[in-house]
Amino acid sequence: MQNKIVLEDMSYILGKLSQEEKNKFKGSTIIITGCGGFLGYYFMHFLSHYADELQIKKIIGLDNFLTGTRDWLETLEKNNEKVLLKEFNVITDDISKIEGAEEANLIIHGASIASPIFYRIYPEETIDANITGLRRILDYYKTKSIDGLLFFSSSEIYGDPFPEFIPTDEEYRGNVATMGPRACYDEAKRFGETLCYVYNEKYNIPVSIARPFNNYGPGMNINDKRLPADFAKAVHEDRDLIMYSDGKPTRTFCYISDAITGYLKVLLHGKLDVFNIGIAKPEVSVAEFAELFSKNAKEIYDYNGSVVFEVPEDKEYMTDNPNRRCPKIDKAQRILDYNPSILVDEGIGRYLQFLKINNGKLL
Ligand SMILES: NC(=O)c1ccc[n+]([C@@H]2O[C@H](COP(=O)([O-])OP(=O)(O)OC[C@H]3O[C@@H](n4cnc5c(N)ncnc54)[C@H](O)[C@@H]3O)[C@@H](O)[C@H]2O)c1
Repeated sequence: MQNKIVLEDMSYILGKLSQEEKNKFKGSTIIITGCGGFLGYYFMHFLSHYADELQIKKIIGLDNFLTGTRDWLETLEKNNEKVLLKEFNVITDDISKIEGAEEANLIIHGASIASPIFYRIYPEETIDANITGLRRILDYYKTKSIDGLLFFSSSEIYGDPFPEFIPTDEEYRGNVATMGPRACYDEAKRFGETLCYVYNEKYNIPVSIARPFNNYGPGMNINDKRLPADFAKAVHEDRDLIMYSDGKPTRTFCYISDAITGYLKVLLHGKLDVFNIGIAKPEVSVAEFAELFSKNAKEIYDYNGSVVFEVPEDKEYMTDNPNRRCPKIDKAQRILDYNPSILVDEGIGRYLQFLKINNGKLL
């Protein structure tokens, strides 16, 4: 990996881990399901980049490449003998057949489509990756001695929170639709959390849960169809930034290096607990987010496009889309010493610089 933005981010993540956390990687075999996706890009790069320094034994990346990309992963595997990459479907394939799975002591279960456009095309696969896939992993590891298993839940498990529950902490139980275009994702994540709880109660498996809040940055494929990817693609192709809402919904956007730091801390926590991982401030509207893209793009890409509104062809585009999403992250700050610091303006700049260097591709 030569991209200077990613290299700086790797070093930032390492710097945010305590010595005690770093020591937990010593001698470890780590499995990452969904390694070909957005978050997988940083997990795989970070772990392979520091594999020797952290004395990691093996990094096993699994993905069925339903939506993920593999070229950059194959390069990573070729350049690092500690990396093993396998095409693997968490719903149907047998993990006991994967060389090294038996010795794995740290497991990251990230396999699941995360982009709303794609999980609505693949609703059964989305449910199954989070429920059947998770259960198969829990079943395989429930009697083995492992140090941590991280399940990727989502801020979507809160649905569209009532105003008095924003910012939202981990105690809030949610306002979620069981039926509707987002239900396959939201409810699968909710049930996945229940599975984690049940397996911990019954088998004492050290599973911890992260609830990510809107990540963006390098590694997010510009064809991913989430909002930051759409804006980045428009900048890269020198087109206008199109908003398919009135621009009023608000989010706090958490840059990838802060997010990955949080996820590693949750993984290494090594006991049942659930943490919001995101950034608390600033909460910006989609319209402000677009303006920040436009401003950064002018500086980095010499971009002259405008921000425009369009009515989406897809009538369900905005159905059950939360109006405000903003986390309380005090729990992760207190217990995990998680302190994200990259504000959205800087993060957008970093994402665009990454794309410019890579000519829009994931290398
Ligand atoms: N990025 C975010 O802001 C965010 C927010 C909330 C939750 N999450 C969760 O974090 C995890 C990773 O998110 P991401 O943004 O990297 O998602 P992503 O969609 O970019 O990547 C997911 C990867 O999982 C793979 N996959 C899907 N089904 C699979 C299966 N059955 N077997 C093997 N691989 C499979 C896909 O091919 C893809 O490479 C997901 O569980 C997601 O729901 C992410």
